[in-house]
Amino acid sequence: MKTFRLQLRFLVPLLLILVATAYLAVPVMDKLTLRWFARDLDMRGNLVANALSESVADALQYSRTRRIESLFERALQDERLVAIAWCSEAQEVGHRTEQFPKDLSCAGANALAGGKDPALQLNGGPVHVSVHPVMSEAGPMGSLVLLHDLSFIERRSQDTRKYLIILIAGLGAAFALVTVVVAQLSWRGWISGTRALLRGEGLVRPLLPGAPELAPLAADLRQRLRDLEDEYRRAQRPDAVWSPERLQSLLHTQLRGDQVIVVSNREPYLHQLEDGKVVVRRPASGLVTAVEPVMRACSGTWIAHGSGTADRQAVDKHDRVPLPPGQHDYLLRRLWLTGEQEQGYYYGFANEGLWPLCHVAHVRPVFREADWQHYRDVNQLFADAVVAEARSEDPIVLVQDYHFALLPAMVRKRLPRATILTFWHIPWPNPESFGICPWRTEILEGMLGSTILGFHTRYHCKNFIETVDRYMEARIEHEHSTITFGGEQTLVESYPISIEWPAEEETKRWPTPAQSRAEVYARLGIPPDHHLAVGVDRFDYTKGILERLNAVERMLEKHPEWRERFTFVQVAAPSRGALDEYRSFQERIHRATERINARFGREGAPVIRLLAQHHEHDEVNKLYRAADVCLVTSLHDGMNLVCKEFVAARDDERGVLVLSRFAGAAREMPEALVVNPYHVEETADALHQALTMPAAEQRERMASLRSTVREFNVYRWAGRMLSDAARLRLRQRVSERVQRHAAVD
Ligand code: F6P
Repeated sequence: MKTFRLQLRFLVPLLLILVATAYLAVPVMDKLTLRWFARDLDMRGNLVANALSESVADALQYSRTRRIESLFERALQDERLVAIAWCSEAQEVGHRTEQFPKDLSCAGANALAGGKDPALQLNGGPVHVSVHPVMSEAGPMGSLVLLHDLSFIERRSQDTRKYLIILIAGLGAAFALVTVVVAQLSWRGWISGTRALLRGEGLVRPLLPGAPELAPLAADLRQRLRDLEDEYRRAQRPDAVWSPERLQSLLHTQLRGDQVIVVSNREPYLHQLEDGKVVVRRPASGLVTAVEPVMRACSGTWIAHGSGTADRQAVDKHDRVPLPPGQHDYLLRRLWLTGEQEQGYYYGFANEGLWPLCHVAHVRPVFREADWQHYRDVNQLFADAVVAEARSEDPIVLVQDYHFALLPAMVRKRLPRATILTFWHIPWPNPESFGICPWRTEILEGMLGSTILGFHTRYHCKNFIETVDRYMEARIEHEHSTITFGGEQTLVESYPISIEWPAEEETKRWPTPAQSRAEVYARLGIPPDHHLAVGVDRFDYTKGILERLNAVERMLEKHPEWRERFTFVQVAAPSRGALDEYRSFQERIHRATERINARFGREGAPVIRLLAQHHEHDEVNKLYRAADVCLVTSLHDGMNLVCKEFVAARDDERGVLVLSRFAGAAREMPEALVVNPYHVEETADALHQALTMPAAEQRERMASLRSTVREFNVYRWAGRMLSDAARLRLRQRVSERVQRHAAVD
């Protein structure tokens, strides 16, 4: 259709030119034919006059009128000759045929003869007048006036005109056909050349054989690719650690400072009313730990649910608040939910449905129609807010987590040119497990509105791609890890999330490990000769807290030498307490703690200290620095950032990490003691091994872990995603540019 429209641009002027040519050519043709025929008639007139001249002269000499009439009658048998007259030397009409006009005098005939155009009308048709002298031996004897019919010329002209128009139309059709064929061939060649460019062919070598018109475009692309390659090479250098500055430079160069909008359920800071005062709190959330430093580097707007008790007091009239407090690096836009919406969308569909569905932690997912309805409504509410906050038609939207599976497609619908990066912070199960969700197709369709869909591990990506393959009609390219659905392509990639590596100025302010230990021991009343293990989690059944307690109990059974020489501190930040499953889990943990303390604790020195309250980052950091061992025994975890925080806190290169093999982090941290938390013996043995590990081995393992986490920090997580986004945006822009060029040409 498009090519047809383009070709019309050539064809319409061509047709106009042909019509104009026909319009001008026909009268010229008419005149020329008339002249040619007049000349022809003059010659014929001469022949007739020559043939008659002698006989007419004889007849005149002897005044034989009958003879003259008969000569004239015979001559008139020529179909073109319509009338003859003889003019005397005195210019008087002597003899004439019947047709000869009575009002045409000899002088009039002389005047008309030799004119270019027919000037005389006879019987409604044009006639040609010619005058020829009659000569006898005695001298001139007047002249013959011959009138030739010209109407046949009119008829011939009409025929000529008809053939001329047919010829011009034929030529026009031939030109049009040739134009269409040539245009089609060139268009195809151009398009395939441009496609080849987009695929990268012809970019390495500067020439594009057969398509020199694409050379300027190729040069542009080559330059941009060189920039990207430079950036990529810098990223690959061993000393190239991702930092806020590097992320900022990526944003300003490759992403041209485009607007970044983050969407998450949990907000980075809550304003809480405590003892009549408004205080600012950081929620216990891996998502916030990871995304907040990225936002500080990127600026932009973060849209989240305002769930703090004093949140409304802190916002301006647009429901915005600049953050972090006192620094104002980015804006938080708070959205308000009704109690019913929060219940249905957050507690219900997200945390009773999707959370157990994706974690496969042996808690049955619950799916209710009413929860689904709220989930859809709240996704729409947040999608509308993204559109309202967007300052351009193509912002970079970072969608966080399983609370917003439908939002990517909703945003894509309103902002088709936006770059939507969705990061799924929790595991993705296998297709069979996911298949029990009644709205599995809607969820997959929603997520495929993303430009890039990120998971922590390749394994989760593989599960997702297989799930799409099982339940959707989509095109999957395993080689490139892309899914094409509804004409849009989604890149499915793994981006292991991480933490912000603490800056040197910050670590200088930290109390030493010895000070931290003294403080923690004093505050919790831990006997100074005790070894200390810690666990820091949200109070969630996926974290393997019960399995951890069982392992502690088993270790004390197997190794009595640790009794009265060992304390385990479990920080359990309150989480989703409105749900029965969480409440009953928390009760079980309390009961297990009591049981173990009753078995192995002493009066005033329990083995297990369960701290089921919110802890600020500094307190948790002190705990990490005070501990001999950190236990992370999740039954299933997307990544788990506690293990990375522990490693970052140990600048003394001491302490041992016991890590579940079911946490995404286990893939990056093999120097930890990796355990199966379902296997109580193995975990108990690992705990014992950790408590008895020589200092040198601790140092070796910890140094290696630290260098991994320093390098694979959260800026790398965001940087890799944004670099991929920049590449895809560039591709989109080039392809739009190509379309524009094509439309103009
Ligand atoms: O692990 C998934 C996740 O969304 C994390 O990103 C975050 O740490 C945690 O859940 C927070 O849970 P909630 O926001 O429900 O307290």
